[in-house]
This record gives sequence, C-alpha cells and structure tokens, in this order.
Amino acid sequence: MSSLTTSQAWIALQAHYNQTQNDSLRVAFANDPERYNKFSLHLNDILFDYSKNRINDQSIPLLVDLANYTGLPAKIEAMFTGEPINTTEKRAVLHTALRNRDNHPIYVDGIDVMPGINQVLDKMRHFCNAVRTGEWKGYTGKRITDVVNIGIGGSGLGPKMVSMTLTPYGSDNLLVHYVSNVDQTNIVEELKGLSPETTLFIIASKLFSTQETMINANSARNWFLDSAKDTSAIAKHFVAISTHTENVAKFGIDTENMFEFWDWVGGRYSLWSAVGLSIALYIGMDNFEELLQGAYEADLHFRNTPLEKNIPALMGLLGIWYNNFFEARSYVLLPYDQSMRYFADYFQQGDMESNGKSVDLNGDKVDYSTGQIVWGQPGTNGQHAFFQLMHQGTQLVPCDFLAAANSHYRLPEHHDVLISNFLAQPEALMRGKTEEEVKQALTHEEQHDAVLVASKVFDGNRPSNSFLFEKMTPKTLGTLLAFYEHKIFVQGVVWNINSFDQMGVELGKILANAILPELKNDAVIKSHDCSTNALINAYKKLRQP
Ligand code: F6P
Repeated sequence: MSSLTTSQAWIALQAHYNQTQNDSLRVAFANDPERYNKFSLHLNDILFDYSKNRINDQSIPLLVDLANYTGLPAKIEAMFTGEPINTTEKRAVLHTALRNRDNHPIYVDGIDVMPGINQVLDKMRHFCNAVRTGEWKGYTGKRITDVVNIGIGGSGLGPKMVSMTLTPYGSDNLLVHYVSNVDQTNIVEELKGLSPETTLFIIASKLFSTQETMINANSARNWFLDSAKDTSAIAKHFVAISTHTENVAKFGIDTENMFEFWDWVGGRYSLWSAVGLSIALYIGMDNFEELLQGAYEADLHFRNTPLEKNIPALMGLLGIWYNNFFEARSYVLLPYDQSMRYFADYFQQGDMESNGKSVDLNGDKVDYSTGQIVWGQPGTNGQHAFFQLMHQGTQLVPCDFLAAANSHYRLPEHHDVLISNFLAQPEALMRGKTEEEVKQALTHEEQHDAVLVASKVFDGNRPSNSFLFEKMTPKTLGTLLAFYEHKIFVQGVVWNINSFDQMGVELGKILANAILPELKNDAVIKSHDCSTNALINAYKKLRQP
C-alpha cells in the first residue's frame, strides 16, 4: 500500500468520512446560521461559497493536514521559483512567470526568464497595435479584418475559450476564428466568406510539428497562395507562435514573424504566453494584460494564503474529499454565462491531461483514484439536459456553479431569471425534497400512489461550490482560470503524480502514423488485430476515389 493511503492524515480522513458520510447538509444549515460565514471567502470581486459541501468544522483541518503531509506548501514554492517539478521531462513549470506582473526575477538554470517574457509582450503589443490600427497591411494594401488561429489543445482551446468569454471586449473590426480539428470541415467552414487579402493566420504550436496543426497550416497556405500567387506575400499574412525556431523556418514563416515561448510553459497552460496573441489582437493588449493581472492576483493569493483560507487549495482538497472518500468519479463545471461556453471544454483538457495519471512520481502504480472526469456546459441549458441525473441519479456529481452579477447586455428580464436558476439549483441539490414534502404537494389520491411519491423524492445532500463575481471582465477571468489551474496542481501534489507531462497521448499518435501509409493504396490490410484490419479494409471499400 502507498505511503499516502497509509499516512495518519489519510487514515484520519477515512475515519472522518466513516463518521460523517450520512450527515445531512440540510440539518447542518438548520443548526448553524454561521455556516455560510465559516465556509465562504473573497478575492477581489469574486465570492467563493463552499458552504454547500459535505463538510463540518473538522473536515477542512483534516484535509489541510493531508496537504501538509504531502508537502504542498513547499511544492507551491518549488513551482513558483522554477524548480524542475515536471520530473519526467526535467523542466520547470512556469506559466506563473508569464503573469508575474511585479516583474521580480525568476531563474531557470541560473538565467532570469523575465527579460525574455517582457520582450515578447512588447513585440505582441507592437504587433497588435499595428494590426488593430490598420498600419499593418495585407499584400494588396488592405487592413486585416480576420484572424485565424490554427492550433490544437492548449494552442487552440485556450485562446478560443478566452476570446469567446471576452467577446464584449472584442473588436468589431477584427474578428477571430479558430481552427483545430484535422477534419477539413473545420477549416473549410471557418474560411468561408473570408478574403485572403484581409486574413491573418496565426500558426500556434509549441513544437511546430503537431500533425493536425501542420496539415491545417498547409491548407491555409494553399488557400492563401491560390489568390496571392506570390510566396513573398506570406510574410504579411502568416505569423508563428512556437518554441521551435527551426521548424517555423522550415515551414516557410519568416522568423521575424515568430513569437517565442519556452519549454517551461506547458501546452495546456500556455494561453498566458504568445499563444494568447489572437486574444490580444481581438480584445487589445491592455485587456490582455488585465487578464494576466487577474491571474497574477490569484497567484499571490495561492502562494501567500494559509491553506485553510486558500481558495485554489480548498477547491483541490474538496475534490480529493469527493474523489477519494465519496468515490465521486466526475465533477461538473456549470457557468451560468453563455460567454463561458468553452470553459468546461478547456478545463477538461486542463484537468484530465494533467491528472489522468496512474503512476506516481517514483513510477509506482497508485492504489488510489486520481484525476476526475470533467464535464459541463452553461446553465441554464444543462438543466434541460443532465441535471436530472445530478438531482436523482445514483452518482454523486460535485458541481461548481459560476455566475456574474451583471451582464454586459441590457435586455429586460433575462439576467434575474438566469441568476434565480444559478441560485436555485445548488439549493435544490443541497436540500432535496423529503417524502413528507412531496406528499404535501399531492392530492389525497396521489399520496397513496407509492411509485409516484418515491419518484418525486429528492435525496438532496448533493454538494456544490458557487462562484459569484461582479462582472465577467478580463481580470476576473484571469483570476478564475488561475484558481482552476492551481486546483489541478494541488490535487497532483496530493496524489504524488506529475501533472505536467502527457505521455498518454503518444501511443494513439504512433499507431495513426503506422496506419496512414496503409490507407494510401487498395491492398487488403492484415497487420493489426482482426477488428482494426476489418475497419481499415471497410474504409477502403467505402471511400470514393
Ligand atoms: O494533446 C497533447 C498536446 O501536446 C497538448 O498538451 C497540447 O496542448 C497539444 O498537444 C498541442 O501541442 P502543440 O502546441 O505542440 O501543437
């Protein structure tokens, strides 16, 4: 058995779980009018209410004991100070340096990374100003009207999620588009209606060798050259974001038009780097820096606040409580904000690629459950899709509800209705509805219909966190994103896994590369298992020349 599950801290939590697992949240609220005050925190305009969790006064100290047992405070310092905590790849993990707004030196291998970061931010600012003012012209002298970011995973989803969330700050004269999927439908549909004369492509890829991105980039170049004819025009319409100068040059993009980032920025943590260029072009560099500022303030909070009052630490520890003791295998992200429609998708990669691991830092198989399944979609849509299971299904699904007190728009009625749902759902999940309450709402005859009564009972006791903030601004979004990043980190530390590699995505890539040449001819394929062979051969029969 691992040292984690045999530790005093873990055993104490297990005993606490055994004692409290059936305690009722409804009763806890009835007995303690101070419960909200005890279990809620603020950072700037963000209110974090975690009082609707299955915890009592002993729970947080016990979870904090576990965090201390695993050395969390020292590991937080190790991350912020550039120690090589990505042990398999022997790298520092320094997305926090990208938003280090007080600019204090941070060293990797004895070299301060801040001057390089500031240089790239300056280059982004100049470029954004030139494009947004129209000083930067396309090959026929027209200003740029559309930016197409080509990149996948962190190089696509991050900028897309932020740009879509911050649409109210976006330029009306410069639209952004995102292409990630190698399925040609993605690029064909995004390029529909765009003009090569006024389109700027950003090719974003850490290594500049990701298959999907390179194929999309080639198709974009062909689409562009079909009109421009002249390869010298590429310089006005293609820029690269990468850590890999050689591969950028090989692709044919002038390295003058390259925005650099570094191997200590993980792909799924990269939107704070030049990977955020499409965001900065769309919302302006000042707003992009506000996003960085919001994240920086979350970083300060995470680094300097005792664990029992530390929002990301509590988010992570509550996740451990449900995953490892209540055996809740997923959690759901529920922004009551249509602009945050890619938030759950983004943290699906952020969390599952980071913590979907089954060996610990010593390479030993873990004997406890690690990364949870992350899913979700904006409220209120989700209410008409999967909330039934959350209220009455057999699975316990901890939820995070997020909402802004003010919309950017001004239609009557909508916002109060939205917020009434944002408030009611956690209440309903927590309270449930007893048999007695069900019967009170039924006719005398219905009260004797046992099946009807049983179907209408809600057990309740279903936990949630609520985040309420003043308005969705770049700064608020930056803070929220950093909270979730650090929550993932906290859990990785407790589980003693490396949250910063992603070896699990390799095998599929290698096998796809082996299959690709087999699709190039009509020969019958026999080199795989009989299922894969049959599927390959069926594809070859079905495809049209
Ligand atoms: O899914 C694997 C992965 O490496 C992600 O971590 C990353 O965000 C994505 O692929 C894209 O990688 P790159 O930026 O190197 O193209």
